[in-house]
Amino acid sequence: MIQKEKFTLSNGIKIPTVGLGTWQTKDGEDAYNSVKWALEAGYRHIDTAYTYGNEASVAKAIKDSKIDRKEIFITTKLPANIKTYEGTLSHFTQSLNHLETEYIDLYLIHAPWPWTNVGEDCTEGNIACWKAMIELYNAGKIKAIGVSNFHPKDIEALIEATGVVPMVNQIRYFIGNTQDKITTYCKERNILIEAYSPFATGEILENEKLFHMAKKYNTTIPKICLRFCYQNGTLPLPKSIHKERIFDNLEFDFEITKEDMEYLNSLSGIGSIKPLRS
Ligand SMILES: NC(=O)c1ccc[n+]([C@@H]2O[C@H](COP(=O)([O-])OP(=O)(O)OC[C@H]3O[C@@H](n4cnc5c(N)ncnc54)[C@H](OP(=O)(O)O)[C@@H]3O)[C@@H](O)[C@H]2O)c1
Repeated sequence: MIQKEKFTLSNGIKIPTVGLGTWQTKDGEDAYNSVKWALEAGYRHIDTAYTYGNEASVAKAIKDSKIDRKEIFITTKLPANIKTYEGTLSHFTQSLNHLETEYIDLYLIHAPWPWTNVGEDCTEGNIACWKAMIELYNAGKIKAIGVSNFHPKDIEALIEATGVVPMVNQIRYFIGNTQDKITTYCKERNILIEAYSPFATGEILENEKLFHMAKKYNTTIPKICLRFCYQNGTLPLPKSIHKERIFDNLEFDFEITKEDMEYLNSLSGIGSIKPLRS
């Protein structure tokens, strides 16, 4: 069953193969309920971020579930505008407090540049953040460290400065937008790709080509999207605030044929390729 499977990161840490996304999930009832339902459904991996503003509600749902903390994989992210060593330590502590936990399973630099200035060269700042994250990792406060929205050159700079290769790169990844250059680079370095926006934030859920593919497998477009990510060796992070969708998005235990995967991998441009502000 998909919800029981795990990928193994380069440092040996196991990470459940699907995680619940929580971007644009309002703090309070929506965030609390979506995490609560996800845990009921069998998800054991929640993806949040400091800037989503919902870490405290995520924490409450996890606490109330009474599931052992060690069984739940929590990812959160350093805000994209924080590019200093001190800022990393202080934001990390705030996230720990919001999440009411002693450690974070996966901590990511949210983006290589602030969302207000996409493309800005923040190499020095990213290295400073990375050094702080390595210290927290060595102190056992974080089980795995990684990046998000990083290009090969951004990752190379971190490795060159510290010798530490990120364990994860979380990128915008869905049918028609597989960012092949970054994906190939990461696969060669054993960096797990997490597929954010596996439904292109809903943009591809009415696509006609995908409709025909779903019909062929007697399934739904969301499941084709999730299975596609999974069969390409990436870890999908579907977001929903609806109970039945949250449950449904875990049920993609079927096989897309090699030919159909080739076809889906050949599609391009069915959703926009811009990184979204998250
Ligand atoms: N690192 C980054 O920079 C970054 C950026 C973007 C996203 N992310 C992460 O990736 C997660 C997912 O990406 P995303 O939020 O962009 O969106 P997504 O998962 O691609 O799509 C979510 C949209 O699809 C709808 N949906 C979900 N399941 C459905 C189903 N079974 N049938 C029909 N509609 C369905 C949701 O509606 P309802 O909620 O109304 O059900 C929502 O409108 C985020 O939540 C976040 O954790 C990270």
